[in-house]
Order: sequence, then structure tokens, then C-alpha cells
Amino acid sequence: MDIARIALNRHTCKAYDPARKIPAAQVEQLKTLLRFSPSSINSQPWHFIIAASDEGKARIAKAAQQGPYAANGTKILNASHVVVFCARTTMDDTHLASLLAQEDADGRYPTPESKAAQSKGRSFYTGLHRYDYKDTQHWMEKQVYLALGTLLLGAAALEIDATPIEGFDPRILNEELGLREQGLTSVVIAALGYRSADDFNAKLPKSRFPMERVISEL
Ligand SMILES: Cc1cc2nc3c(=O)[nH]c(=O)nc-3n(C[C@H](O)[C@H](O)[C@H](O)COP(=O)(O)O)c2cc1C
Repeated sequence: MDIARIALNRHTCKAYDPARKIPAAQVEQLKTLLRFSPSSINSQPWHFIIAASDEGKARIAKAAQQGPYAANGTKILNASHVVVFCARTTMDDTHLASLLAQEDADGRYPTPESKAAQSKGRSFYTGLHRYDYKDTQHWMEKQVYLALGTLLLGAAALEIDATPIEGFDPRILNEELGLREQGLTSVVIAALGYRSADDFNAKLPKSRFPMERVISEL
């Protein structure tokens, strides 16, 4: 596999063909990419809401109808699938306990000592962000962005077009989906599907700073 070719060929889709839908088997693969995305201390401080129906996409598009966001609303409505990436609003002890229990059930702890050591190490990092850096929300949202990156590259590998979308009003989306009540907040959206003839970005050359500006070798 030429992974660089996939990175060079992907682009941010600016207009979708509403008639083309992602096959169910590929949607399952994309879900697996989201679920297995890595996160610091395996914290998985996220939830992903996927809309494939017109009704579901219309609910999400409500957050991208005003002013500069309006062009994103059209992408959301015409895409095959739309993913809302949510972060937890707390990294509380209940979440940490369920995480440890899940890892135990998945066979990660051959001895009680290994489980206790993991719990202790995890407490160090959560305490660091909670009490010293005081950036737990920001830390969790960084993890959510890793899942976005994983999804974007994976979609490109499957020849599915995608649009990462920060241009929406999170307050409207949180309200529409009742996210706060679920201990969640919306962070970023990804539209997925297949480009239409109006996707001007597909015809433009990609633009990035030169290699030596962004990468140094020691
Ligand atoms: C986190 C993030 C948010 C973005 N938000 C939007 C957006 O709201 N609308 C949009 O059309 N493109 C959005 N983009 C696309 C970027 O403009 C695009 O990735 C960048 O210009 C590079 O182009 P390329 O993705 O085609 O390689 C976003 C990209 C990222 C990574």
C-alpha cells in the first residue's frame, strides 16, 4: 500500500452527491476506526453520533445554517453519513472505573498487581490534568481530534470523500441533540460520502508548506 499516495489524493470535499450512499460494510469499517482510535491512557473520552437519515442530518445541519457556517449546512445535508464527534464533559471516577473494568474483561490484566499499577498510572495523568494543568476538557478534546484524523485517513483509503467541519455552532448542536444532559459536548463534525460535480476543491491542486519547513531531522 502506498499510504503517501492516499494522503496526496484525499481532499476536503466541498459538495456532495446526495444520491450516492456509503455501502453498509464500509460504514462498519469506519465505525471500527472510530472505536479503535488511540487515546491518552486509553481514556476514550468520546462518543460518536452518526446520522445517515435525512432527518438526522437535518438536525445536525441546524447548527450550520447561519452566516459563515451556511456552506457547511449544505454539505451535512447532502453527505451520505455525518459523524458528530463529542467529548465527555468530565473525566470522573465512574468513567475511570468502567474503563478499568472493560480492560479487565478484555483480558488486559493477568495479575491484580498489573491492574492496580495501571490504575495508579492513570490516576497520575488524570490528576495532572485535573489539578496541575487544569485542562481536562482541552485534554479530552485533543483525544477526540485523533479520532477525527484516524477517520479522515481511513475514509480516504476506502475512496470515500470527507469534510472535517469546525464551522458550526456547538451550542445549537448540544441543545438539539441533548448532549449536555448526557455528559457530552460537540467538538467537531465529519461529513462523509461522494463528491458532486460542484466540488471545486477536487479540481484544485493541494497546497502545503515545503517539507523542510515542516519536518527537521536530528
Ligand atoms: C479540524 C478541521 C476543521 C475544519 N473545518 C472546516 C469547515 O468547517 N468547513 C470546510 O469546508 N473545511 C474545513 N476544514 C478543511 C480544511 O480547510 C482543509 O483540511 C485544509 O484547507 C487542507 O485541505 P485538504 O483537506 O483538502 O487537504 C477543516 C479541517 C480541519 C482539520
